[in-house]
Amino acid sequence: MVEVARKKIEPVRSVKGTRDLLPPETGLWQRVEEEARRVFEAYNFREIRTPVLEETALFRRSVGVDTDIVTKEMYTFEDRDRESLTLRPEATASVVRAYIEHSLFNEGGIHKFYYLGPMFRRERPQKGRFRQFYQIGAEVLGSDHPAVDVELLEMLTLLVERLGLRDVRLLVNSVGCARCRPEYVKILKQALEGVKSKLCADCQRRAETNPLRVFDCKVEADQATIAGLPRIIDHLCPECRQHFDLVTRGLKERNISYSIEPRLVRGLDYYTRTTFEMTSGALGAQNALMGGGRYDGLAELLGGPPTPGFGVAIGEDRLLLAVAEAGALEPSSPLGAYIAWMGDGAYGPAQKLARELRHSGLSVEIGYDARKLKKSLGAASKLGARFAIILGEGELASGRYQVKDMTSGQQEEVEPARIAAHLKQRIGTGFRSLAG
Ligand code: HAM
Repeated sequence: MVEVARKKIEPVRSVKGTRDLLPPETGLWQRVEEEARRVFEAYNFREIRTPVLEETALFRRSVGVDTDIVTKEMYTFEDRDRESLTLRPEATASVVRAYIEHSLFNEGGIHKFYYLGPMFRRERPQKGRFRQFYQIGAEVLGSDHPAVDVELLEMLTLLVERLGLRDVRLLVNSVGCARCRPEYVKILKQALEGVKSKLCADCQRRAETNPLRVFDCKVEADQATIAGLPRIIDHLCPECRQHFDLVTRGLKERNISYSIEPRLVRGLDYYTRTTFEMTSGALGAQNALMGGGRYDGLAELLGGPPTPGFGVAIGEDRLLLAVAEAGALEPSSPLGAYIAWMGDGAYGPAQKLARELRHSGLSVEIGYDARKLKKSLGAASKLGARFAIILGEGELASGRYQVKDMTSGQQEEVEPARIAAHLKQRIGTGFRSLAG
């Protein structure tokens, strides 16, 4: 007989910079998303879902051809029909594209959207930085009123508070508008002429092509030189100055603490006027929990009518790191009850009870094979069940089942019809509503 050499099959692994999110961690993601939806909907934002795939031109035009995102980080490929497509690196451009494509401007008024989903940037992976990461974003289209900026920042402060985060800082700045920014860029370019030779190769290129991008530089040796450059905040036109003053005044009136960060120009080209970031002390080097700003010219850049906009994107992966560290949030839907049944005659009533409890909204597990009580209770405890419901011959005869609190060990006899109400009362909703 010929021996056939068995080839060892290498398992396929996930792509660098991407990861699987597994339970129980996904429970915490769901809680955070649920909380974001509640807070956003309280401020009258509605969900929008746009495709993950977009034409490459969308991001070249909006994010900007000189940005790190477009020059180095996009997942761009030619489709079979030669069209250039890109996995979205962010979603603001997509939201504005959809707003134009569906002529939502014809409805007039203000549109408020929020979105959740994966984004893709080919960055060097590290703590809090992935190639596939998730954002929770919110965009307001149709108003250039500074109160829009203040209200969104208030909403974000509420979300962060409700997630139990501490050590979060709000940084704000203004990057001016199409009128005052070119003047400032001239001044910046002149200043850069004098110091360019001390900066990294990327900055030397940026000094020529798009000087504002010098502020995105992360090279440590460049930082002292960059700190000495003129600040945009000192060169705003009267309208931009007034907008900024009204935003900061509004923040003060609402007791939202902030610091002005004159170097905060943000890594995307579409911003005008207000820019902001919230950082978290829980995150290490990648400490930007979220970022955003105003983009009053973006709709026109994308071929739509003039439509001012303001928005944010929260880095959900980073938010989760901060939430886990703060430890104030429990993962959603813990297992409510495990049904421990004994003896063949008990399976029918046990699965009937399981179905009733599940239909009433409780999370319930039941063993499929007859087991000894000790084994069933072991399974209940391993699964983290809040209660075990015990039914064997004795319970069936008396018509009252044993309900065991797995935390305190206390046991009570309850009629099957009353078990759902009994458990719900004990477990509570597990989730605070906005009112509570
Ligand atoms: P961004 O600053 O590029 O802005 O991204 C927003 C947030 O996404 C960052 O603060 C960070 O928390 C997270 N993030 C970015 N890249 C990564 C990554 N590689 N891994 C993990 N998290 C990451 C925007 O995307 C704009 N669209 C925000 C906006 C909305 N502006 C106006 N509206």
